[in-house]
Amino acid sequence: MVQNTPISVVTIDRFIIEQEQRYPEATGALSGILYDLVVAAKMIANKVRLAGLADVLGAQGTANVQGEIQQKLDVISNDILVKALDHGGRLCAMASEEEEGIITVPDKFQRGNYVMLFDPLDGSSNIDVNIPVGTIFSVLRRVTPGGGPGTVEDMLQPGLKQVAAGYVIYGSSTMLVYTTGHGAHGFTLDPAIGEFLLSHPNIRIPEHGRYLSVNDSYEKYWTEPVKELMRHYRGMNGRRDAMNVRYVGSLVADFHRNLLGGGLFAYPANTKSPSGKLRLLYECNPLAFICEQAGGAAIDGRQRILEVQPTELHQRSPYFVGSKADVEAAADYLAKA
Ligand code: AHG
Ligand code: MN
Ligand code: MN
Repeated sequence: MVQNTPISVVTIDRFIIEQEQRYPEATGALSGILYDLVVAAKMIANKVRLAGLADVLGAQGTANVQGEIQQKLDVISNDILVKALDHGGRLCAMASEEEEGIITVPDKFQRGNYVMLFDPLDGSSNIDVNIPVGTIFSVLRRVTPGGGPGTVEDMLQPGLKQVAAGYVIYGSSTMLVYTTGHGAHGFTLDPAIGEFLLSHPNIRIPEHGRYLSVNDSYEKYWTEPVKELMRHYRGMNGRRDAMNVRYVGSLVADFHRNLLGGGLFAYPANTKSPSGKLRLLYECNPLAFICEQAGGAAIDGRQRILEVQPTELHQRSPYFVGSKADVEAAADYLAKA
């Protein structure tokens, strides 16, 4: 007998309001930020879908602050996010992978008590070959006195201070996953009506992972404890439930697969990149917040990612995120370093 799959009728707007109602003192500012983010996500999804048809593919001809080649869609996505979020009166500043300094809210708009950090298009080197890409975001409450422009100090807070975080994956469907500290929830964009509908309430990551996501072309630069750890995951040290390797090269896509199916994403430090590659504030922290809310864990190899005190806007960090038991194995092996 064919079973009817129930179709979600819960829009993301409704869900956000219900979450807000748990806090009688809430001003609605955080909900407003999320609504603006949802609009930006739909606009970026639309651009990504047109890749190949409209003139949005290829390199922009510029490099970002990390010296990486910017793709046209990196710049377009950055612009979309800034323009969707700068005028609502809820943020006092933003920061982006694509911009060296912080992005202030223009004087003509009101300023609020929050700052947002984002990776506008994650995995953008994959865009020309039709592989999923994403957007990652993190929201913090400002620590400097209200009213004036936000500062870097407002951004340099440990991940534990995030009040909301999430990502959008532009894959075979577009999904938005976010948390405000009450579970991680996923919404799928119904393209026919242009709405995100609740499709994955209260996501739980399996305790043990099936998948290992790591770029092992760096093996020659890994330290011995990292090499040992990878042998452990692959079942080369006698472990029976060896993991399968899956590496897309888009963090959001690798993370999303592991979140739903169980697994670990690792970007360890290596002798060529002693701090790894991924950016603490707008890649590691938001996904760590989601993962912990789903019952998983995230470390930099030594400590819980969310407890790291940042010192620079674009600082990099080694990263191990995913199923709890597999992150704990990383902590055990790397403690021997
Ligand atoms: P971005 O496109 O935002 O610069 O991020 C790229 C990142 C991340 O998505 C991915 O996990 C990682 O780069 C892949 O790096 P390697 O090619 O070194 O494995
Ligand atoms: Mn990225
Ligand atoms: Mn990016």
